[in-house]
Amino acid sequence: MTALVTGGCGFIGGAIIRRLIAQGVKVVNLDKLTYAATPDSLADLPPDRYRLVVGDICDTALVRTVFETHQPDIVVHCAAETHVDRSIDGPAAFLESNVTGTFTMLDAAREWWAGRKGTQRFVHISTDEVYGSLGPVDPAFTEQTPFAPSSPYAASKAAADHLVRAWGHTYGLPVLTTNCSNNYGPWQFPEKLIPLMILSGVEEREMPVYGHGRNVRDWLHVEDHADAVWTVLQNGVTGQTYNVGGNSELQNIDVVRRICDRLDERAPGAGDRRRLIRHVPDRAGHDARYAVDAGRIRRELGWRPTRSFDRGLAQTVDWYLENTEWWKTIRAQSYDGRRLGVAKDATAIQLATA
Ligand code: NAD
Ligand code: TYD
Repeated sequence: MTALVTGGCGFIGGAIIRRLIAQGVKVVNLDKLTYAATPDSLADLPPDRYRLVVGDICDTALVRTVFETHQPDIVVHCAAETHVDRSIDGPAAFLESNVTGTFTMLDAAREWWAGRKGTQRFVHISTDEVYGSLGPVDPAFTEQTPFAPSSPYAASKAAADHLVRAWGHTYGLPVLTTNCSNNYGPWQFPEKLIPLMILSGVEEREMPVYGHGRNVRDWLHVEDHADAVWTVLQNGVTGQTYNVGGNSELQNIDVVRRICDRLDERAPGAGDRRRLIRHVPDRAGHDARYAVDAGRIRRELGWRPTRSFDRGLAQTVDWYLENTEWWKTIRAQSYDGRRLGVAKDATAIQLATA
C-alpha cells in the first residue's frame, strides 16, 4: 500500500506518517515546507519507504505528476494553514492552501483513480472548529451539528469539508473526513497554546492568556489522533465523517497552570512559574468552548483515546525540555513568540458598532 500524505512535515502529518510507516505502508509526503514545517521529525525514516516531495498542493501539474509517479492507493490530506491567530492577521493564505489546495487534491485524485481498480481512500483531516462555538452547557459536537465556523481558519476548513463531501457525492470519490479536537504533543510548532506556554515558562517569559482564560478546549494527544486516522483508513465507511476528541475539556487557564506546575517540578526556575501568567487582550471572535462527542468512532470502529491529559501533558513538557535545540532555532529564526492575531481593525470595527 502506498499513501500520499500532504503536509506530512507538520505536527499531525508527521505523527500520521510515523504511524503509517510502522504499519508497513509506503509514504510519499507532499509538503511545501512553510514556516510550520519540521522535516527533522521524519529524518530517521527508512528511505526505501519514505519520500518527501517539496511542493505546493495548489500546483495542479505537480500534484498530477505526484499521482502518476507514485500511484498512491490512499491520500491522507493534512496540508493546511492551521493557526487561528495567523488567519486573523492574513486570511488569504488560508483560503489558498485550505480551499484551493483541497480542491486541487480532490480533483487530481478523481482524475487519477477514475477507472483504476483498487481500494482507494481519500481521508481528509479536519477540525472540530467547523462547528463553531458552544455555550457552557451545550451538548458536545456530533457529526450532525451544523457547521458554524467563526474564524477565517475555521471557515476555510469548513469550505474544504464541503468540497470533500461534494466530490464524494458527485463523483463517487471514496472520501472520509475526520473532525478532531485540539491536539498536543511532541513537535508542535510553538505558536499554539501548549508549546508556546511551555517555552515561555522555560525561558521565564510572560505567559499570555487571552482574555479571562476560561475558554474551553477538548485536548487530544497527537498519537491518539494518528491512531484514530489509521482506524478510519482501515475500517471507516466511505463517505462518512468521524468526530475525534479527547473527552478532556479544560479551561485555558487550567492548562497553563498545569504546565507551570510540571515545569516547576522538572526544571525549577527563579520562582513559581504561575507568577508569569498574564491576562492579555482577547483574540478577536474568540470561540468560547469546543467539545467533541466521539461516540460514532468509538461505537462503530472501536477507537478511543489511550492517554490521560495529565500523563500526555507531562510527557509533552518533558519532550520540550529535552529537545531545546529544535525549538531554540525556531525561536531565533522564524517565530520568537510575539503576539499574533490582535486584529486592530476588528477591534476598531467592534468599538465603532458597539
Ligand atoms: P501544521 O501547521 O503543524 O503543519 C501544516 C503542514 O502543512 C506544514 O508542514 C506545511 O508546510 C504544510 N503546508 C501548508 N500549506 C501547504 C501547501 N499549500 N502545500 C503543501 N504543504 C502545505 O498543522 P497541523 O497542526 O499538523 O494540522 C494538520 C491538519 O490537521 C490540518 O489540516 C489541520 O486543520 C488539522 N487539525 C489540526 C488540529 C490541531 O490541534 N493542530 C486539530 C484538528 C485538526
Ligand atoms: P490555539 O492553540 O491557538 O488553538 P485554537 O485556537 O485552534 O483552539 O489556542 C488554544 C486556546 O488558547 C484558545 O482558546 C486561544 C488560547 N490562547 C491563549 O490564551 N494564549 C495564547 O498565546 C495562544 C496562542 C492561545
